[in-house]
Amino acid sequence: MSDWDFHTIIEPFRIKAVEAIPNLTRAQRERALHAAGYNLFKLLADTVTIDLLTDSGTGAMSAAQWSALMIGDESYAGSRSFVRFEAAVHRLTGFPYIFPVHQGRAAERILARTVLPPGSVVVNNTHFDTTRANVEQAGAHAVDLPVAAAADPTDTSPFKGDMSLPALDRALDSGVTLAMLTLTNNAAGGQPVSMANIEAVSARCRAAGVPFFLDAARFAENAWFIHTREPGFADVPLPTIARRMFDLADGCTISAKKDGIAHIGGVLATRIPEWADAFRNELILGEGFPTYGGLAGRDLECVAVGLEEALDPDYLRYRARSVAYFAERLESVGVPVVKPPGGHAVYVDAGRLFPHIPPEQLPGQAFAVAMYLEGGVRGVEIGSLMFPAARLQLVRLAMPRRVYTQAHIDYVVEVAARVVARARSVPGYRIVTEPPFLRHFSATLEPLPTGG
Ligand code: F0G
Repeated sequence: MSDWDFHTIIEPFRIKAVEAIPNLTRAQRERALHAAGYNLFKLLADTVTIDLLTDSGTGAMSAAQWSALMIGDESYAGSRSFVRFEAAVHRLTGFPYIFPVHQGRAAERILARTVLPPGSVVVNNTHFDTTRANVEQAGAHAVDLPVAAAADPTDTSPFKGDMSLPALDRALDSGVTLAMLTLTNNAAGGQPVSMANIEAVSARCRAAGVPFFLDAARFAENAWFIHTREPGFADVPLPTIARRMFDLADGCTISAKKDGIAHIGGVLATRIPEWADAFRNELILGEGFPTYGGLAGRDLECVAVGLEEALDPDYLRYRARSVAYFAERLESVGVPVVKPPGGHAVYVDAGRLFPHIPPEQLPGQAFAVAMYLEGGVRGVEIGSLMFPAARLQLVRLAMPRRVYTQAHIDYVVEVAARVVARARSVPGYRIVTEPPFLRHFSATLEPLPTGG
């Protein structure tokens, strides 16, 4: 599809606007961290040098997006920007009923409140936390059916985001209300789902009469992995691959803050007319009139442009290569990472890096804090602080889209190398205060004495 045969994969853009990043002294970082109770969510962004907390809403918009923003039509009903948004989503997905929402979880909330009676069951390769929370809020059960390879950070299978088909068969036998596939599978390392798996899940759901939705927040990255890793797709254009994924489903939720490369926005879409009626009513109740949902007209414009830019092969080649490069460099300085690297982030296996810190002393948090202290790098713990029963002690270093260059990444690797060099003196942590749920967002912590 492309004849790029250079070893160097370049950023497929030049930079027109820049934003200064903070550069603090170590003493300033120590003070900021202390004031934040050793919780990186509580740091002011002005104290962070390289912010890898999330790839959500943190991307750099293109000149085309910024100029589209300026021509946004803020009419309450029937705005030109909605027409453009609807056409872009329709071109991408083929779904006839399309609703704008303010972000992904708003789509999940509408879906859960309208089609999930209490006691019903939703299966997913792995529910993202907000999806699970919305399903459970409706009184339904959220069941994860990942393949076995997803649990092994050293397994290099190409499609570790797949759903287990034997597990799906068993679930369908005992009753399922809605099946979902999360593309890529964020909660399981940003791993892609193969077209073969989407087809198999779709066929089984159709046979069982169970509606099947995609959580397509990272549809473009998933399409790229199908294009580059799955036999038969090397010559298929990316929009065709994406369309085939959506064609296999009855609807989708999308957070446009990821592959929409927008700062805010989301989509709920379906081909089921009765569900569309229910979505529309719920949308009006909580988000807004159906031609703007939870967004301004200018936001609809940015999403419409971003959804198309995300499928540019030059962009996706650079994106996948950047994440893989980051993972390779981290490994080369002795940082264990989940393999293969995902589409939007590198997941560090802090449990393996810090064998002297037991899970209850939060090795993931220890790595995340050490990266901040050493060089002002912010990642997010995905281990026993976030999920007390976690089996792996991971830290996600997410890559905002089109924001950081190779030099920024080389700097982060240098910071990580310094953490590795003093790994044995890195302390564990204990929780001082914690809220009743989602404790990672607001808990306060303190370092435990070392060497004892
Ligand atoms: N689905 C997936 C797979 C996600 O990764 C997210 C958000 C959502 C749904 C919810 O979308 O934030 O627009 O409401 N993930 C972000 C992250 C927060 O950091 O991974 P939202």
